[in-house]
Amino acid sequence: MRATPTKPIMALMLASLLGACAHPGHHERETAGFVPGLGEIMAQTSTRHAKLWFAGQAQNWALAAYEVDELHEGIEDAGKYHPTHKDIRQPIPDLLAQYLDQPLAALDQAVKAKNQQAFIANYDKLTAACNACHQATEFGFNVVARPSFNPFANQAF
Ligand code: HEC
Repeated sequence: MRATPTKPIMALMLASLLGACAHPGHHERETAGFVPGLGEIMAQTSTRHAKLWFAGQAQNWALAAYEVDELHEGIEDAGKYHPTHKDIRQPIPDLLAQYLDQPLAALDQAVKAKNQQAFIANYDKLTAACNACHQATEFGFNVVARPSFNPFANQAF
């Protein structure tokens, strides 16, 4: 088909008037990109978990609040992109909420209160909750712990 020069221009104008969603399949394309596996999101979660510890040790509460937020977001993504897991019977979002909602909320509070003692106590509870879910899902060989040294050579806490 031979289009007259005005046709593509009209199409462009229409598309911009209606917004990007005028393209059929736009949303499919948006999510058809790279989706990190649950293991990848967990590895990222583990980094955040470690950084949160060093933020709390330094009483850098702004950074600690940021890392708690990032943990929340990662957990949300884990449930959104991986509602089920081939080796796990329960829905992943239910498990995540069951194990993490309470300890993350308690950490949120400790960080807002700038209370280092409460921070440490609730950090250990969060760590225990990570491990409890790993054990419940037959991934208990992934053992989370307080970081024993700071591997982040390029970040000031
Ligand atoms: C749903 C319950 C659940 C909770 C809660 C949970 N995990 Fe996991 N975690 C998993 C599962 C399932 C895997 C294995 C995923 C896979 O590879 O398919 C995993 C894997 C991991 C791994 C191994 C990833 C790798 O590639 O080395 C780490 C590290 C990890 N989790 C850290 C954490 C941390 C830190 C927390 C707490 C902040 C946490 N997890 C909370 C279920 C959970």
